[in-house]
Amino acid sequence: MLEERLYQRDAHRAWAVHANVTFALLLPLLGKSANSSFVREYINKFGLSELFWIWNNTEAQLRARVPAKDRESSYSIEELLAMVLREAKKSVTRFAQEDVSNCVMAVPPQFGTSERLALLGALKLARLVPLGFVNQNLAAAIKYAIDGAAKEAMEKRGYSTVMYVNLGATSFKVSVVNHSVSTVAGKRTDSVHTLGEAWDELLGGRQFDFVLANIVAEKFNAASEQNGKPDIRLNAVAMRRIVEKAEEAKERLSVANASRISIDHLLGDTNLDAEITREEFEAGLAQFGPRIQGTILRALADAGIPVGAIDDVELIGGGLRAPGVQEMITNALNV
Ligand SMILES: Nc1ncnc2c1ncn2[C@@H]1O[C@H](COP(=O)(O)OP(=O)(O)OP(=O)(O)O)[C@@H](O)[C@H]1O
Ligand SMILES: [Mg+2]
Repeated sequence: MLEERLYQRDAHRAWAVHANVTFALLLPLLGKSANSSFVREYINKFGLSELFWIWNNTEAQLRARVPAKDRESSYSIEELLAMVLREAKKSVTRFAQEDVSNCVMAVPPQFGTSERLALLGALKLARLVPLGFVNQNLAAAIKYAIDGAAKEAMEKRGYSTVMYVNLGATSFKVSVVNHSVSTVAGKRTDSVHTLGEAWDELLGGRQFDFVLANIVAEKFNAASEQNGKPDIRLNAVAMRRIVEKAEEAKERLSVANASRISIDHLLGDTNLDAEITREEFEAGLAQFGPRIQGTILRALADAGIPVGAIDDVELIGGGLRAPGVQEMITNALNV
């Protein structure tokens, strides 16, 4: 199993069947103490409880247990991440048609010293040489300064204050960035400077999959043939199959008004066949509105500027495509 490297949808499919030997969503766990409340909350919220097991509390190290027929082994988060990085290195090398070993890592803004040190460890194991770390939102800002909306504003006015709103699979990150251009002795210098930032380490698109799966599970429970049977949500294997399908349904609901989830033999002979509307899903996601707004307001407070001083908002990350999420951001900015 460890010889296999799967990404994206294929990896999620594998997780549905072999959750206890499929490693996913590792980055947020990097450099975190096994005893920390974040680790427990993250493992719980992102459905990793069967895979990870708190090991060696004296060293506060988190390791993933790998059951095998003859013996059991375990891996640190750094070791697992190094496997992913080695694979990335291989595919970049293939693409560039030359050996690539230097890299610049874009890291989440919430990464402090211990996360960065652990990342250095993973890079070393993958035989990659880090030239530097750059904050993910700042990396996006640099890109927008080169070819995005920020460039246009700069040509016109010489400065721009942009809010970068980034909702990924596991975390939500907001940065307020000042772009400016100055010319000294005929030489133009473009600057990108973070004024303030805030994040919610436990809010991401993967959680939206669980919300959708929960709605579908409730429909399954309510279906007549389920009367008197235990709540499907107590069945971890069945729930994983629903979550895996929920991600696909979530993506369809970004463009369609309704989507169907069908799973044969979900529980014994009973099949799942449920329709979920965009409206139902949006209502389920509404619970995240206050957290989205809170993070945006904290980023503004950290920058020390009012919302009226923002010239432009740039949206980053797949999680923002879920129904109603962009409206939540607009509402948060209209306070
Ligand atoms: N069309 C879509 N509709 C809804 N959600 C989508 C869509 N496409 C992708 N997503 C979701 O976006 C998330 C992935 O986004 P992204 O690639 O920005 O995350 P990431 O950078 O890997 O995560 P993070 O920034 O949290 O580390 C997943 O939860 C995925 O299901
Ligand atoms: Mg991201």
